[in-house]
Amino acid sequence: MEFGVKSGSPEKQRSACIVVGVFEPRRLTPVAEQLDEISEGYISNLIRRGDLEGKAGQMLLLHHVPNVLSERVLLVGCGKERELNERQYKQIVAKTIQTLNETGSMEAVSFLTELHVKGRDTYWKVRQAVEAANDSVYTFLQLKTKKGEPRRPLRKMVFNVPTRRELALGERAIEHAQAISAGVKVAKDVANMPPNICNPKYLNEQAAELVSQYDTLSLDTIGEAQMEELGMHSYLAVGRGSANESIMSVIKHQGAAKDQAPIVIVGKGLTFDSGGISIKPSEAMDEMKYDMGGAAGVLGLMHTVAALNLPLNIIGVLAGCENMPDANAYRPGDILTTMSGQTVEVLNTDAEGRLVLCDALTYVERFEPEAVIDVATLTGACVIALGKHATAVLSSHNPLAHEIINASEQSADKAWRLPLWDEYQEQIESPFADMANIGGRPAGTITAACFLSRFTKKYNWAHLDIAGTAWVGGARKGATGRPVPMLSQYLMNKANIAIDE
Ligand code: BES
Ligand code: MN
Ligand code: ZN
Repeated sequence: MEFGVKSGSPEKQRSACIVVGVFEPRRLTPVAEQLDEISEGYISNLIRRGDLEGKAGQMLLLHHVPNVLSERVLLVGCGKERELNERQYKQIVAKTIQTLNETGSMEAVSFLTELHVKGRDTYWKVRQAVEAANDSVYTFLQLKTKKGEPRRPLRKMVFNVPTRRELALGERAIEHAQAISAGVKVAKDVANMPPNICNPKYLNEQAAELVSQYDTLSLDTIGEAQMEELGMHSYLAVGRGSANESIMSVIKHQGAAKDQAPIVIVGKGLTFDSGGISIKPSEAMDEMKYDMGGAAGVLGLMHTVAALNLPLNIIGVLAGCENMPDANAYRPGDILTTMSGQTVEVLNTDAEGRLVLCDALTYVERFEPEAVIDVATLTGACVIALGKHATAVLSSHNPLAHEIINASEQSADKAWRLPLWDEYQEQIESPFADMANIGGRPAGTITAACFLSRFTKKYNWAHLDIAGTAWVGGARKGATGRPVPMLSQYLMNKANIAIDE
């Protein structure tokens, strides 16, 4: 979708649709009032008669409002003025876009960016509106033979900003949001792709395709033969039951001098997690195609980073692998030697993500990184702890954890920190190896992170568990593209891209 900003008054707009807010109970926003005046009370009359209460998300589409140049006016309920918060603002914008999309307006001018959202400026409101708009028109129809797309979809949305001084700010917000949305879309597309198509090789091909689009990007591909040479026996064990080769794709963005230490982001890329010999129950097992959500996020993030041409060196690793039961599969009881030399007793082949990640995390030591963040749909326990709303952040490096949480707040891509205290380490002790790959039921997200922490001693590291946030189930089932917004913000902050002035 295309976006623009302008600064003008509502009665002068000549558009297919003009979007203005109404607060609860039946209170016009200043912009709606302006339209009411020139239409000689047309809008206030309707509202008095009870056509719109102003509850958040209520929509009323009007045609040919007297003296208004635009063909349509969309009145949008914004709830109680004092209660308008970030979440409601995003929901209102998304609902607006859906309505416009379904009612034949191919372009619209929105005044919702003039609403007051506590503590948020025009940059934030425009950026969130663009991201929410892109998000709400996303579909994944590649594999449907009848596409059923809207006949006259919304193509262009213009946001009005209160003063001309804010035009530049609005334009920057659009540019940033479009780059982030493009990354989110890449992440969603690859994650929604079914596991018979999206295997580790497919992830690698998507990486190659991305790299071919930008001069700053390059790709290294590490297959099973090279993993063998590197001693990545833990990673290899997980993929051994699969007919699809394990492939690790290393995408590099060079935006700064060669000697500047990179920031490395590693994504869990289980293109299907059946559980292996410790096989999962069949209910909702199809959702384990999303077990590559971390890798999808990293691929999307690299797209955003390249589109913004961030002046940093950034390395994105897609740890592609498939976990299947098979005569050749690894088993409970096996003891694996990881690339780090540490040994692991496998007690459950369904705790495979950490076995893949530990070797990927050892591999990236060679880059002498400034920081490493891994992103993984790692534990069902994370969904129990935080539900579907927040990504879990675990880190023993406080400054890095704070940077991530800040970026999450700025980007409205929620994250919450869990502790990574030493006390939990004893849960993964093993009588036969240096550690076990599971730590029992208590604090499953933390013990998984404890496991990874044993492979990340040589750099500053944080772990993001996106088991609850990478996709949604139910009627609107699909990948979310999270945490691309949060990590994009983290890297933009690192690159000192000013957003507030
Ligand atoms: N990919 C799963 C985690 C998962 C489950 C993410 C459900 C999202 C929804 C992971 O590989 C896994 O199976 N973890 C096990 C670990 C356990 C065996 C210690 C889990 O969470 O049950
Ligand atoms: Mn598993
Ligand atoms: Zn998994």
